[in-house]
Amino acid sequence: MHDEIAIESILKEKRKFKPQPEFAKAAHIASTKAYNQMHREAEKNFERFWARMAKEHVSWFTPWKKTLQWKLPFAKWFVGAKTNVSYNCIDRHVEGPNAWRRNKAAIIWEGEPGDRRVITYGELHREVQKFANVLKSLGVKKGDRVGLYMPMVPELAVAMLACTRIGAPHTIIFGGFSADSIRDRLNDAKAKLVVTADGGWRRGSIVPLKEMVDQAVGDVPTVENVVVVRRTEQQIVMKEERDHWWHDLMESASDVCAPAKLDAEHPLFILYTSGTTGKPKGVLHTTGGYLVHTTVTSKYIFDLKEEDTYWCTADIGWITGHSYVVYGILSNGATSLMYEGAPNFPDVERFWQIIDRYKVTIFYTAPTAIRTFMRWGDAHIKKYRLDSLRLLGTVGEPINPEAWMWYRKLIGKNRCPIVDTWWQTETGGILISPVPGAVTTTPGSATRPFPGIFPDIVDENGEPTRKKDAGGYLVLTKPWPGMLRGIYGDPQRYKEQYWSRFKGLYFAGDGARRDKDGNFWVMGRVDDVMNVAGHRLSTMEIESALVSHPKVAEAAVVGRPDEIKGTGVVGFVSLEANETPDEALREALRKHVAREIGPIARPDEVRFTDALPKTRSGKIMRRLLRDIAAGREVVGDTTTLEDYSVLAKLRGDED
Ligand code: WT7
Repeated sequence: MHDEIAIESILKEKRKFKPQPEFAKAAHIASTKAYNQMHREAEKNFERFWARMAKEHVSWFTPWKKTLQWKLPFAKWFVGAKTNVSYNCIDRHVEGPNAWRRNKAAIIWEGEPGDRRVITYGELHREVQKFANVLKSLGVKKGDRVGLYMPMVPELAVAMLACTRIGAPHTIIFGGFSADSIRDRLNDAKAKLVVTADGGWRRGSIVPLKEMVDQAVGDVPTVENVVVVRRTEQQIVMKEERDHWWHDLMESASDVCAPAKLDAEHPLFILYTSGTTGKPKGVLHTTGGYLVHTTVTSKYIFDLKEEDTYWCTADIGWITGHSYVVYGILSNGATSLMYEGAPNFPDVERFWQIIDRYKVTIFYTAPTAIRTFMRWGDAHIKKYRLDSLRLLGTVGEPINPEAWMWYRKLIGKNRCPIVDTWWQTETGGILISPVPGAVTTTPGSATRPFPGIFPDIVDENGEPTRKKDAGGYLVLTKPWPGMLRGIYGDPQRYKEQYWSRFKGLYFAGDGARRDKDGNFWVMGRVDDVMNVAGHRLSTMEIESALVSHPKVAEAAVVGRPDEIKGTGVVGFVSLEANETPDEALREALRKHVAREIGPIARPDEVRFTDALPKTRSGKIMRRLLRDIAAGREVVGDTTTLEDYSVLAKLRGDED
């Protein structure tokens, strides 16, 4: 599809916001000069730069012999070093010079029904060791994969950290995924154990997590045990021998479990994400580099300080939650706020209540959420002080300048800098973002690469675009510590997906341009992956879900602009002969997709059509479908279209 997308520079944003002196004065990077100096250091020798970062920010049991071993496209960072992520996120805050943090809040948690918990570093230390012992007692060994399908409760963080303590890579499955999706992921990862909960709260209802796991695990032969957190206290079925209550196991577990001394390249976790073809890809991240990357970017990009109360609203089931709710934040010894539920329960003021109640200082959310808040109306926000906030962040998709300005004014009271952070599941941590206090921001641009990160924009042939403002493909020219180390079990797909389009370059799948000031403007995906509400969905995956319905002959899925979600999902469906298109079937198909993949993938619209527009070689012409779905005039070349009447029918010209 790449050739069908013309990348245009559509944004002509002129507003600029210089760092405020008061903010800069107290910031970790306190001036443009210091920031430029950091960039120069990294440009001179990026390996040495990351080695310095690693030494200063992460505790190691054994130092590395070589900072980077790069056999394109396979990287090893901090070769020969040994460390442990849970040690860095907990132990070093309860022993030695920082032992005073023992009674500092690590996690401030609020459940959707309004229940609250504060977990100190000392408590986290005990709980994680206990659960690490539980995992061991259930036969989980170093290297075994553990599936986590849980609500946003502190036990999820405990389970993650316990996995890292013993070197068992976790694979977290977002609580919105269906039983089929769980099954596929657990099978791909060959998970040995699953941790779940009796349920989770979402907008006042119970999400039946355990039921989903029951449906999935029957078809996952590798899973031996299921551990269940009691959360909603609803009735569930416990399968004898296989299922265990978390609280029963924890009661008798010892709270002493030494952190395993793990190789820097020991697998830390697998996280599944959508690709252009076939099944979701198991993105593999490893220990040392990921920890360095997330720790350092958390500190400098969020200007994270000892006194901060930091809140990232992402679910831990996505990479943002892994890197910037748990690992990067706790590794800095900071306080991370975690909220279980929906932003509009019991009403649309929940987030602002939380910010005022806990005096949140740093708030990190997604453009789709910001646009939703805008729609709910300013009056709800004006009731709250929000004066504890000092920094705002955004992630997940390009933010439209209007939403950026609204965020700055209504939430940030024109006082807080905004960091628009560009990165991906694959990159592990933030790559392009302003550093507050040092970088002038402009609405809609993620601005500059973090020091030690080397993005570029190239044309079709992989040649760097020299002209300012020229659009092209966003690539990375050098490896970085948090980069994925592969696709689990599929090195070939890893090479093809990321390293084959442009020789020697990592291709992110995004289009971008760079303006005359050197600021990057990320303009969205150029492949068949849609960004819906800040999450990637593959058109292919939704198509195969539609086609798996017995009445469907063929399906094509495209995105169309959506005011809130950024992209809405539209499915064009042609039915088997003798099937009648009607409202009931339309609804059934939407439900079918939700069941097959999860509610996030449910099409906003299903359109029935006799035939799909195809080229003579049989390729579906999505470009046309995109125009039709968006209600736009079909422009551009249609000469390759095989049957012109299809176009007329799709547009409804016949009615
Ligand atoms: C894709 C990655 C990174 C965690 C959340 C999504 C888009 C992400 C931005 C941003 C413009 C962005 C890109 C990227 N994206 N952040 N600040 N500006 N686009 O993770 O599901 O791996 O999706 O999200 O298209 O490739 P993901």
